[in-house]
Amino acid sequence: MKKIEITKPDDWHVHFRDNEILKAVVPETTRNFARSIIMPNLIPPILNGKQATAYKKRIEDATPKKDTFKPFMTIYLTEQTDKNELKESFINNAIFAAKLYPAGATTNSGSGVKDIKKIMPVLETMATLGMPLLIHGEVTDQKIDIFDREKVFIETILAFIINELPELKITLEHITTSDSVNFVNEANKNLCASITPHHLALNRNTIFKGGIRPHYFCLPILKREKHRKSLVDAATSGNSKFFLGTDSAPHFVSDKENACGCAGVFNASYSLPILAQIFDNNNALKTLEKFTSINGASHYNLSRNKIKLKLKKNENPLRLRKSLEVNGEKIIIFDPEFSIFWDVALP
Ligand code: DOR
Ligand code: ZN
Repeated sequence: MKKIEITKPDDWHVHFRDNEILKAVVPETTRNFARSIIMPNLIPPILNGKQATAYKKRIEDATPKKDTFKPFMTIYLTEQTDKNELKESFINNAIFAAKLYPAGATTNSGSGVKDIKKIMPVLETMATLGMPLLIHGEVTDQKIDIFDREKVFIETILAFIINELPELKITLEHITTSDSVNFVNEANKNLCASITPHHLALNRNTIFKGGIRPHYFCLPILKREKHRKSLVDAATSGNSKFFLGTDSAPHFVSDKENACGCAGVFNASYSLPILAQIFDNNNALKTLEKFTSINGASHYNLSRNKIKLKLKKNENPLRLRKSLEVNGEKIIIFDPEFSIFWDVALP
């Protein structure tokens, strides 16, 4: 197959940050995606509907006129989140979902949740409202091996939440292990999972190939090859429980190439060509549209996008831009280090 046409994709998990970075990265997403769920882990975080609405306006102002793009806003749950404010913001459409960061799990998660029991009344309200809970699924206990933190989270915290509130709509975000694939498959219909392009493309060896390579450090961290394969099987299966969330997470080079480098991969620019190549390599181009454009919308009870997007396969590999420039600083663009022959075709 040399050309395919799919429903325009959505990215159900993206970090836009704020100010100058926001202006630089928003067009990289809005070029190819119709809708996104926007992560709230700014400094300081987005904690209520009012802040979400102001942030949405900054995103809309940064969206190029030629692009039709709808941001779906989220709030960052803390142990102080007010369930009445959350309810009002949800009913007024100021927020679409709430994000659970276990405190200390990842970038800017310091004000996240330490004790899940403290937010159960908020989660109960969300279940009643039909408001989705988005979860960074890793425990933060430093005694637990970094490669096991997702598995321990699903077995303890996630199993507890689902058991208490089976009717709560949950997205287990950026899953990285076969344990999560199995757990999601076996759980009730309200639990679905997003998968990133980088966890589909690479395993943990990439982080250490020839030295330590900070641009491949993200959280949850890349895992063993058997886990990557399990993610590829889940994504390419067409199973409606799995869909795309890029977790595109820009950081300046100086914050990545650092004695204590930040976690995050900025992949918005080539997510779709990379995914098309991975699906093609696995003889699964037929299910690409389900993963990028259909399964996520149905999990969130949204209609499919009406607009289409064409992808074409070139004779020669794509030459990826290496970085985005922001005020004299650079953000490195994710490179999966394999040849990509697919590209988005102009309409
Ligand atoms: O690698 C990551 N980067 N994982 C996250 O969960 C957060 C993100 C960020 O905000 O940089
Ligand atoms: Zn993220």
